[in-house]
Amino acid sequence: MAWTCCRNILIAVAWSIFTPLCIQTTFELVGATATRPNVLFIVIDDLRPSLGCYGGPIISPNIDQLAAQSAVFTNAMVQQSVCAPSRTSFLTGRRPDTTRLYDFGSYWREHAGNYTTIPQHFKENGYITLSVGKVFHPGKPSGSTDDFPYSWTLPAYQQSTQSYSDSKVCPGNDGNLYNNVMCPIDVDKMPDKTLPDLQTLETAENLIKILSPKQKHDVTKRDDAFHPELEDALHGGEGRGKRAPVVRLPFFLAVGFRKPHIPWKYPKEYKGLYPLDSVEIAPDPNIPDELPNVAQVVFRQLRLRDDIKAMNLSFPIGTIPLKYHASLRQSYYAATTYTDYLVGRLLQALEDGGYSDNTIISLVGDHGWQLGDHGEWCKYSNYQLATRAPLMVHVPGVTDQKSSTTRKFPLIDPLSPSFQGHLKEDGINEVDSRVDEIFSTLQSHQSKNQIDSRVDDSYLRFPHDQTDNEVVESRKSPGLKTKGRKAQSENVYQINEFVELVDLFPTLAELTGLPVPPVCPPNPFNVTFCSEGYSFAPLIQGEECLNSSARRGDCRGAAPGAIVRWKNATFSQYPRPSVTPDKNTDLPSLDLITIMGYSMRTDRYHYTEWIGFNHTTFQGDWSDVKARELYLNDSDPRQDNNVANEECYRSLVGNLSHQLQRGWRDSLPVFKTRT
Ligand SMILES: *[C@@H]1O[C@H](CO)[C@@H](O)[C@H](O)[C@H]1NC(C)=O
Ligand SMILES: *[C@@H]1O[C@H](CO)[C@@H](O)[C@H](O)[C@H]1NC(C)=O
Ligand SMILES: *[C@@H]1O[C@H](CO)[C@@H](O)[C@H](O)[C@H]1NC(C)=O
Ligand SMILES: *[C@@H]1O[C@H](CO)[C@@H](O)[C@H](O)[C@H]1NC(C)=O
Ligand SMILES: *[C@@H]1O[C@H](CO)[C@@H](O)[C@H](O)[C@H]1NC(C)=O
Ligand SMILES: *[C@@H]1O[C@H](CO)[C@@H](O)[C@H](O)[C@H]1NC(C)=O
Ligand SMILES: *[C@@H]1O[C@H](CO)[C@@H](O)[C@H](O)[C@H]1NC(C)=O
Ligand SMILES: *[C@@H]1O[C@H](CO)[C@@H](O)[C@H](O)[C@H]1NC(C)=O
Repeated sequence: MAWTCCRNILIAVAWSIFTPLCIQTTFELVGATATRPNVLFIVIDDLRPSLGCYGGPIISPNIDQLAAQSAVFTNAMVQQSVCAPSRTSFLTGRRPDTTRLYDFGSYWREHAGNYTTIPQHFKENGYITLSVGKVFHPGKPSGSTDDFPYSWTLPAYQQSTQSYSDSKVCPGNDGNLYNNVMCPIDVDKMPDKTLPDLQTLETAENLIKILSPKQKHDVTKRDDAFHPELEDALHGGEGRGKRAPVVRLPFFLAVGFRKPHIPWKYPKEYKGLYPLDSVEIAPDPNIPDELPNVAQVVFRQLRLRDDIKAMNLSFPIGTIPLKYHASLRQSYYAATTYTDYLVGRLLQALEDGGYSDNTIISLVGDHGWQLGDHGEWCKYSNYQLATRAPLMVHVPGVTDQKSSTTRKFPLIDPLSPSFQGHLKEDGINEVDSRVDEIFSTLQSHQSKNQIDSRVDDSYLRFPHDQTDNEVVESRKSPGLKTKGRKAQSENVYQINEFVELVDLFPTLAELTGLPVPPVCPPNPFNVTFCSEGYSFAPLIQGEECLNSSARRGDCRGAAPGAIVRWKNATFSQYPRPSVTPDKNTDLPSLDLITIMGYSMRTDRYHYTEWIGFNHTTFQGDWSDVKARELYLNDSDPRQDNNVANEECYRSLVGNLSHQLQRGWRDSLPVFKTRT
């Protein structure tokens, strides 16, 4: 399959009414159907980038396998490190100051502006758009409908058993049940004998089966009754009469998994993958002296659970004793490996459906998570641990390893004896040879990781930095650090440039050949179709696209010349009710917000300014600075030592403050102007 110019594929005939806007690029014919690529949009809740493919200690063979065939972003930042604001931001392609959602209390269409979302854009351009699980934050932030009907062809699917998330279902040592954070369980003993993410997975599997080109459907014309089968799969509708054929439109299927969000309720077998004595805790588990009060989180959501309550922590200042850190990490890791298995099943379903070669897959975490690092837990902060998220994008024919004979995404079950045999590196029996091959590709970082240590400092080092001379080489150049596909050993196509989750909207539009939302004007509230991100498709498409003389002409119509530099900073923010921590610190509702922490990550610095904020006018007051944080990446990559108040950094702080106030528009990629 190749990228080809749209005008060459007027085979879009039958589909012309659904693909009227043939702008820049699109995919060539796939199989018998001329259509745009599908999109599988996977969102994982509270996933920190400590996965195997990021050099971390978490066993994640299925995501690693996707990573090995994707562009993997090592510096992807969210705009606010909590679920609803982050999701609303990246799904609308706008920053929190434009969605005006910093809490869980409003719907942007009523409260800020009637902004077009990613799925809405696909829907309006002829896609079937479906939402399964937690994609938008359910409830008020998405109009209590997950933004149906604007964003979705059919009402979004939410798992019935999510209602048990606060129930006492976790067995304690005394035989009673609790609502613990750490909650390994028997699925059979759960209400309805299932878990929310299993319901999500099964629903997504069914949808893919129905959408599959392997099914014999009439694809010659659109049939307005194409809903019932999908509707049944989503909502178990009965007696809707004769099932109509599904017309094969391209799909945008969004699947949101809820783990590893707390409670860490997962099939208990996964715990066995992480013997407690092998789990290392954070190398910097104490609250740093220079961390301003306003920057601290109180992780109240954790404290409300029975197992944490039993620790008798002091409040609001007071962290979790070290002796519990390893157990908490063990559960987070185990819940994540369980999610990895679900992702593997989903990719298997996609491949079984015949869709692995014409589906763009993006996998993203909605923000990071602090696991005792700096004595902090949960998200709710501007630390890089909370703002940096995993992000990878698989583009068939561009980021994958071509192989026509083998499966792209063979399911790897981390609980299978063969996999565990691999982990122990003591020989394997009856292992699918492909799994064997894949494992040996993936293993190098897993085992390297085990040898180095089990310390999770994946935010400091990436597995390929040491081995990929090209990456090291390119670091020296003032220009792009990006490296093309085929980074040496593991073939991971790693991209170190700064990207932000607000970039997803323009990127996915560009990759599928849909109209790309332009950069929003300074007053964006009345503009429905624009974004405050920037398409990073040129980074994925490779260096050919970055070089004007060699450009394929269709990489980026808007860019007249070669890129001088990509984004030189990313921007995040977090609100607070007060300087001193209290019960509302983590999640202040809009009416309580009086402070906003604006944060900027650059190549060498992470700078945050906490300033007065008026929640009526949504204006920050830069003359009212409550606290500053400055971390020097060269000497303090873990961000343990806030030097903002040291005299010798006064000039630097002044400059960074100025850049922070100028904001994200100043950081956008710079292109050579045509001469
Ligand atoms: C918002 O946009 C949608 C989709 O374009 C449109 O159907 C709806 O009427 C708009 N709502 C308002 C209040 O303008
Ligand atoms: C917490 O306090 C209760 C009641 O005083 C006590 O029984 C329990 O042992 C304490 N737990 C810990 C971990 O200190
Ligand atoms: C949006 O447009 C309306 C009507 O033209 C106007 O009253 C309002 O002030 C505008 N809002 C913003 C934020 O510009
Ligand atoms: C751009 O492409 C041309 C032609 O392929 C090549 O000679 C040149 O070295 C490339 N420049 C860069 C900066 O990669
Ligand atoms: C920050 O420092 C770490 C450790 O030296 C390095 O791996 C990373 O690339 C640096 N970050 C940036 C954005 O340059
Ligand atoms: C916020 O702005 C409004 C409108 O200008 C003003 O009435 C209010 O006093 C301001 N609030 C604070 C705390 O300054
Ligand atoms: C701050 O900016 C000024 C003006 O551009 C420059 O002269 C100075 O060296 C900068 N200071 C630091 C510490 O970067
Ligand atoms: C990014 O580059 C622009 C110039 O293109 C400059 O004005 C801005 O200060 C830079 N920002 C940072 C954070 O270095």
